[in-house]
Order: sequence, then C-alpha cells, then structure tokens
Amino acid sequence: MFKLTSAFVMSALAIAAANAQDIMGLSWNSTSPYGQSTGIFQLVESANGFAMSFAAGTTSTLSATYDSASETVTQVCPQAGLIAAMIPVEGSSPSTYTIEWVDPTATLPDGSSTTSLVPGDGAFLTTMGSPNGVFAQNGVFKQISVDGTYVFAWADETFSENQDVTAWIDISDGSAIEC
Ligand SMILES: *[C@@H]1O[C@H](CO)[C@@H](O)[C@H](O)[C@H]1NC(C)=O
Repeated sequence: MFKLTSAFVMSALAIAAANAQDIMGLSWNSTSPYGQSTGIFQLVESANGFAMSFAAGTTSTLSATYDSASETVTQVCPQAGLIAAMIPVEGSSPSTYTIEWVDPTATLPDGSSTTSLVPGDGAFLTTMGSPNGVFAQNGVFKQISVDGTYVFAWADETFSENQDVTAWIDISDGSAIEC
C-alpha cells in the first residue's frame, strides 16, 4: 500500500493564498536512551496521499505554511497545496495517527483531523491527546510500521510508555527550500 515515490509529481493544487505566512522547513529529531538523532522527512505514497518516513540528511526538502484561521498546515514544497492530516491507525491502542499530506477536498477515514497540528516553539505540537508527562507536548511522535513500511505518526502515550523515546517535527526557516 505504501511505496516510495519521486518528490516531483506534478500537483494541480494551488497554494491557498490568504495572507502572507512564514514558510517553514520541516525535519525531525528524536531523543532516546541511546542518544539523539536528526534527519529530514521523505514523502511516501499512501492510500490517502503521502505519509512521511525518516531519511538521513540535514537539508530539508519539505516546507509548509500554517494558517491560524483555518488551523491547517499547507505544504509548499514538494507537493504544493496538500494539507497535513492526522489519520487514525485502525484498531490502534493507544490511539495512533499517521501524519499524512492529503488533498484538501479528499474524504478521509472517520476520526481524521486536519486541524490538530500547531506550530509551537521550534516544533509542531498537537492539540490531540494527553500530556506526555515530560515534554511540553501531548503524546509522542514516532515512526511506526504500517504494512511493513515505517511512517511517521503520533501516539497518545507518555514518553515513558514509549520507552523514553520521542521524536519531534522540527521547524526551521523554509524560505530557501526549492522543489
Ligand atoms: C528536538 O526538537 C525539540 C523541539 O524543537 C527540542 O525541544 C529538542 O531539544 C530537540 N532535541 C534534540 C535532541 O535536538
């Protein structure tokens, strides 16, 4: 169901242009008892659009804007116009959502949300779920295996329930990112 795809698929969707917004570069970092790592996201084709996997590298290729009126995150590069969605993983416990990029007009699985990611201090946080007990975020971001492919997700569990591991969606200046 998930397959790697070229970052340069044409998108006919226009970027929702409401007012001037900062373009943010998105990358990941993670902290664990074994150490800390950082990297960039790679888009992975999914049933709904694109999920993300962890890739090595320091130069982000993914950028987005946040609109506080619609509370949506809109991708600028490489798939202009797709919006970020949290899509529930069927049967997951604790509740787990993959973070995917979807067509704003797409019908998503029940329980999905396109308005639950908010930019915080240096990273995207979510308004879903419960405090994770250590960091100023709810739940933990992490990679999970879906049909054998690792994709980026969020789970409503504490840092310690996730074996003292969490990842973050880091925000940097994305204005120079080229598609
Ligand atoms: C990861 O990013 C978060 C949010 O920006 C930050 O608070 C944390 O210090 C970073 N961790 C590492 C290991 O860089």
